[in-house]
Amino acid sequence: MTPHTHPESAIQPEACRKLAEDFAYALVEGDCTGHDRFHLDRVRQMALRLASLGMMQSSLDILVVEIASLLHDALDSKFSSDPEEQDHRVRALLAAMPMLPEQRDHVFAIISKLGFVHTLPHNASASQSGPTPSGLSIEGQIVQDADKLDALGAIGIARCFAFGGRKGQPLHDPDLRPRESLTAQNYRSGKQSSLNHFHEKLFKLKDMLHTPEAKRIAEKRHAYLRDFLARFEEEWEGKDG
Ligand code: ADP
Ligand code: NI
Repeated sequence: MTPHTHPESAIQPEACRKLAEDFAYALVEGDCTGHDRFHLDRVRQMALRLASLGMMQSSLDILVVEIASLLHDALDSKFSSDPEEQDHRVRALLAAMPMLPEQRDHVFAIISKLGFVHTLPHNASASQSGPTPSGLSIEGQIVQDADKLDALGAIGIARCFAFGGRKGQPLHDPDLRPRESLTAQNYRSGKQSSLNHFHEKLFKLKDMLHTPEAKRIAEKRHAYLRDFLARFEEEWEGKDG
């Protein structure tokens, strides 16, 4: 995007990056649910990889992709007890970044609707009408794809059980059935097992991706999850070997 009213020199990627890293790394300090700084760095790396392969890369705003990747969990309720205050803090951070005003708005728009919960219907009756459209820009779709890919594969499995352990969930409980449909209301509540999270969410992710490269990478990671589940069930029943 070529700005008409602002000089390109107003943009200082290095300074923006440093501000975003310091803020985001501090926010997730001490996390043991797979949302730590290494998750942010993997999402950034994957998002930049997806962006570099995008057909429309000449019109993609790479700085927006990178900053939104680093800040993608910054508005998540997991990391703040006061959403309004967090909103202010993130806006103040963006205001301090040497980038164009439209880039700040773009980053904020992405991170405020990126999370999985935003793709869920609000409640059970709304779930009849199908998935909600993402309303994300291409940059937002790229960051969302990178975040979803980190919930798949070997790392996705590790993150799922780490999250479940922190939440007090059992690994598996044959008496607990996966819920048919998740809604924004029931996503974070209710007694569940980590293994059911595979059915409720993780197996659905590959069909929610936007970019061709993310879809390609997801196939392998998805298959790995399937293999893991089959193996888990075999061992659970003592039928392996
Ligand atoms: P987002 O996809 O928006 O980052 P979350 O923060 O809810 O959404 O989920 C991130 C990851 O945390 C999931 O992909 C999964 O690995 C783990 N997770 C979230 N909820 C659960 C759960 N109930 N049980 C096990 N793992 C979970
Ligand atoms: Ni994330």
